Amino acid sequence: MIFPRVSSLLGLAAAAASILPGGVLAALTVVDTTVATPTATASATATAAASVPTTSGLRFAVDGATKYLAGTNSYWIGFLTNNADVDLVLNHIAASGLKVLRVWGFNDVTAKPAAGSNTVYYQYLSAAGSQINTGANGLQRLDYVVAAAAKRGVHLIINFVNNWSDYGGMPAYATAFGGTKEAWYGNAAAQKQYRAYVQAVVTRYANATSIFAWELANEPRCKGCATDTVYNWAADTSKYIKSLDPHRMVTMGDEGFGLPTANGTASTAYPYTTAEGMDFARNLGIATLDFGTFHMYPKGWGMDDSFGPGWIQDHAAACKKAGKPCMLEEYGTGTNHCTVEKAWQAASLAAAGDGMAGDMFWQWGDTLSTGKSADDGNTIYYGSSDGQCLIQDHVKAITS
Ligand SMILES: *[C@@H]1O[C@H](CO)[C@@H](O)[C@H](O)[C@H]1NC(C)=O
Ligand SMILES: *[C@@H]1O[C@H](CO)[C@@H](O)[C@H](O)[C@H]1NC(C)=O
Ligand SMILES: *[C@@H]1O[C@H](CO)[C@@H](O)[C@H](O)[C@H]1NC(C)=O
Repeated sequence: MIFPRVSSLLGLAAAAASILPGGVLAALTVVDTTVATPTATASATATAAASVPTTSGLRFAVDGATKYLAGTNSYWIGFLTNNADVDLVLNHIAASGLKVLRVWGFNDVTAKPAAGSNTVYYQYLSAAGSQINTGANGLQRLDYVVAAAAKRGVHLIINFVNNWSDYGGMPAYATAFGGTKEAWYGNAAAQKQYRAYVQAVVTRYANATSIFAWELANEPRCKGCATDTVYNWAADTSKYIKSLDPHRMVTMGDEGFGLPTANGTASTAYPYTTAEGMDFARNLGIATLDFGTFHMYPKGWGMDDSFGPGWIQDHAAACKKAGKPCMLEEYGTGTNHCTVEKAWQAASLAAAGDGMAGDMFWQWGDTLSTGKSADDGNTIYYGSSDGQCLIQDHVKAITS
């Protein structure tokens, strides 16, 4: 009865190779596969407090302006190996008026790709010794995205681990360090390596002007667990990130499950329950989490598309109560994107300043040097009629 997220249903592959457009790997030039352990020399506090995006009441303050933000997701941009493709995507995103881009800041493997295979990965996990890949097929790919986004005034949400097995995730840590997926949050060896990875990434981008926020995970869940499990882990981890980088925002990256209704009549609908070990309002109370995140795939959760506006309004109410802005950071319906998602965007915008502070559709699509980027059924391609509807028209509605 419990549905995985829609992007998994639609077959996001575990290997970078299989999500990239046809032939991309074959076309690559040979890159160095140097693997090194992190050097955490930089002081993250060097980032000027004034230059980083912050919350401002129930809104975000970015580049000196406090306004509702439109954004999108590209999980794959940091796995591209052609700089020109990264530039093209960021040019289009910036030209569209989208301010925030969420990217995968993780790519974990438990077996290293064959030397010279050019497959991008960021971290190799093993109980015998994990390694963070800072080589040309490692974090240097994310470096390029961070620098290219900075040049164009695009702000990035970067997360550190997946709940799902795409690009490794918690299941990869479980493979390397043992235990069940649910036990990940309390697995000392897994958490030690996760923190080493977090530290490597956060300090690496200490001075980057393009970081919007650090995100603990993509869609953390702990099915059947007491809500204490994720709550305690999120409190400890976010506090740790703030110790490394006190000025930047930190958020959870969750789907927003375990939600009180604004009207006080408890809902028994699955996303409202704590079945996945998540308690949205309680987690939002963690002092070192700056804003709330939630996702919306009604069909993937066994609900109707009309579920959307209520889900948005109930999150807005919970965020308002907590005094922190809410970001609808992923949404998609699979079909009839314009008709359905336009109504969702309108519902979110209607609550601007009253709990909602932005929305980011899943996911950006573009035409790369190798062809069209992956279509998981929720891809909105730049220049398409759905793009006109959900990007241009939406940005116009925000600025008017
Ligand atoms: C950040 O800037 C400071 C001060 O200029 C410098 O000492 C430090 O090495 C820089 N860190 C990184 C990761 O570039
Ligand atoms: C991730 O989500 C799936 C689906 O609910 C769940 O089975 C799995 O246990 C979750 N992983 C963790 C670490 O909670
Ligand atoms: C209360 O809110 C829930 C969730 O948004 C909704 O399903 C329900 O119909 C509402 N109940 C009343 C009485 O308005």
